[in-house]
Amino acid sequence: MTLKDQIDIHRLPRHIAIIMDGNGRWAQEKGQDRLYGHFHGVESVRNIVEGCAELGIEYLTLYAFSTENWDRPANEVTGLMELLVETIRNEVPTLNKNNIRLHVIGDMSMLPEYAQKALEEALSLTSHNTGLNLVMALSYSSRWELVNAVKKIAEDVQAGKVDAASINQDTLQKYLVTSELPDPELMIRTSGEYRISNFLLYQLAYAELYFTSTRWPDFRKEHLYEAILDFQKRERRFGKTSDQLQDEIPVNV
Ligand code: IPE
Ligand code: IPE
Ligand code: MG
Repeated sequence: MTLKDQIDIHRLPRHIAIIMDGNGRWAQEKGQDRLYGHFHGVESVRNIVEGCAELGIEYLTLYAFSTENWDRPANEVTGLMELLVETIRNEVPTLNKNNIRLHVIGDMSMLPEYAQKALEEALSLTSHNTGLNLVMALSYSSRWELVNAVKKIAEDVQAGKVDAASINQDTLQKYLVTSELPDPELMIRTSGEYRISNFLLYQLAYAELYFTSTRWPDFRKEHLYEAILDFQKRERRFGKTSDQLQDEIPVNV
């Protein structure tokens, strides 16, 4: 039985989030420039987006560029930004063919104008699609997102639109850039690093975390299936006891 066949399609994570890490080291290990790694990372993006769409995953969030990544050497930042924008632009026909809707989260004001325009175009050209939601985290960091949300809530409190005493988790959710997305249930990080690096800190509260030493440019559907199978073996307790969960399992399904 193939790995894919072993996956229980009735217990798929609705939302998978991936920290696509290890491009630079992958290239350097081959005696190449870091940008060579980013270039090959695009192949993995295509393969994994296709894999998620085939399985029927509803949301896939890819961490492509963090707020902190702006501090990398200028040639890497420029090269990476051009690659990301060009790729998104070129992939629009394929996204449409596969009914995939593109979303972008992050501080778009940091992006050069040509990039903002290209992204807006791609967002609008795929906005009618109803299959996989592909969320690109670009110039994104959780702390940026949370500070931004707090600022907007404070403004609305001041304007009398929000009552400070009634602020709860639902209120905060509405002010996050992920307000329309369910929380990720599975978070994958490639390249052997065991950290979150400012990615969806609030939303990952109960996500299952999966770390693999595979560098992102080597990551393919088979690796994704392994992560999903691992996810399906876990007991997600959400603070309850294992016994409580057994009691909750409905009979006859
Ligand atoms: C991930 O690969 C892509 C981005 C962060 C943009 P890296 O560029 O971080 O590669 P490593 O971690 O240095 O190998
Ligand atoms: C996280 O990777 C950001 C992306 C994958 C886009 P980094 O390579 O920037 O993270 P650190 O610096 O190793 O924590
Ligand atoms: Mg890295």
